[in-house]
Amino acid sequence: MLDINFDTLQSDHLSAIHDAQSLESLEHLKLTLLGKKGLLTQALKTIGQQPKETRAELGQRINAIKASFLDAFEKRTNQLRDQAIHHRVKTETVDVTQPVNTAQTGHIHPITQITRAICDFFGQHGYSVKQGPEIETDFYNFKALNIPDDHPARDMHDTFYLDPNHLLRTHTSPVQIHVMETHELPIQIIVPGRVYRCDSDSSHSAMFHQIEGLLVSKTASFAELKSILTQFLKHMFGSDKCVRFRPSYFPFTEPSAEVDVAWTDKQPWLEILGCGMVHPNVLKAVNIGPSVYKGFAFGLGVERIAMLKYNIPSIKLFYENDQRFLNQF
Ligand code: DAH
Repeated sequence: MLDINFDTLQSDHLSAIHDAQSLESLEHLKLTLLGKKGLLTQALKTIGQQPKETRAELGQRINAIKASFLDAFEKRTNQLRDQAIHHRVKTETVDVTQPVNTAQTGHIHPITQITRAICDFFGQHGYSVKQGPEIETDFYNFKALNIPDDHPARDMHDTFYLDPNHLLRTHTSPVQIHVMETHELPIQIIVPGRVYRCDSDSSHSAMFHQIEGLLVSKTASFAELKSILTQFLKHMFGSDKCVRFRPSYFPFTEPSAEVDVAWTDKQPWLEILGCGMVHPNVLKAVNIGPSVYKGFAFGLGVERIAMLKYNIPSIKLFYENDQRFLNQF
C-alpha cells in the first residue's frame, strides 16, 4: 500500500489552494500537485506496484482527489480574477472632463479634388488619363504645336528655359504630341499636370495646373467638341449656368474658340477654357493624315476653375498650406 495519508494530503492541499493569494502561486501549486512530476501524477504512476486487490480502489481514490483539486483550482482562479477586476474598478479612474487632444488629419487638396473630378467626368465619357514630362524640348512645347519661332509664347520672359532647347513646359498641350506619336488611333485622352510660366500676381502663379483634352478620330467634329464641353461645364458649375463659345485664336487649333460661363443672365461672362479643331499642321507633325483623321482639343487651368467655383480671390491661397483655408474644402 502507498505510504501516503490521502486524507491529510487532500485537506492540506485543498486549504492551500483556497488560501492562494495570487494566480502565480496557484499555478505553482497546480504544477506541484498535477504537473508531470506532481504529487498526484507520481502517485498514479506507482499504482502498478501495489497489490492487485487494492489497485482499483486506490485509483478511484486518487482520481477523486484529483477531481476535487481541479474543482478547487477553478473556483480559486475565478475568485482571484474577480478580485483583480474589482481592484482595478476601484482604483483606476478616467477623467472624462480632460480636454480632447484631437489629431489633425489631412485631406485631399482642393486642386487635386478638382483635378480628380474633371478626370472622372471625362473618364466616364471614354477618355483615359495620360501624363507627360514637365521638362520639354522646343519641338514638343512649341514647334510640333504649330507655334512659329516668333510667337510670343516663346518669349524668354514668359518661359523658364533650362538651355536653348529645353524648358519647363508652359502648357500640357505637348502631351498631345507625345501621345499621337506613340498611340494607335483613335485617341481620346485627358491630361492633368503641372505647367510653368514666368508670371505672378493674384490670379497667376509661376507653377499651376492644367488639364488638356484630345480626341482624334475619323469623325471628330466641332459639334462633338461643343457637346462634351457644354456637358462638362454644366456638370462642373451647375446645369443652370450659361455657356458660350467665342471665336478665338490658338496656333495649334483651327478653328479655335474660348468658352465662357456666366452665373446668371445679368453677370459678366467668365473665360473658362480654350479649345478647337486640331490644326492640320499639328497632325502632320506626327504623321497623321489630316484628310482622313480629324481631332479636337481643349485646355483649361485647374486653379482658375477652382477660383471661379469657390469664389477664391487669390491663386496664392492654394500654395500656402494654411489649414484654415484648406479645411473649407
Ligand atoms: N495650351 C493653351 C494654353 O496654355 C490652352 C489650350 C487652348 C489648349 C486651346 C488646347 C486648346 O488644347 O485647343 O493657354
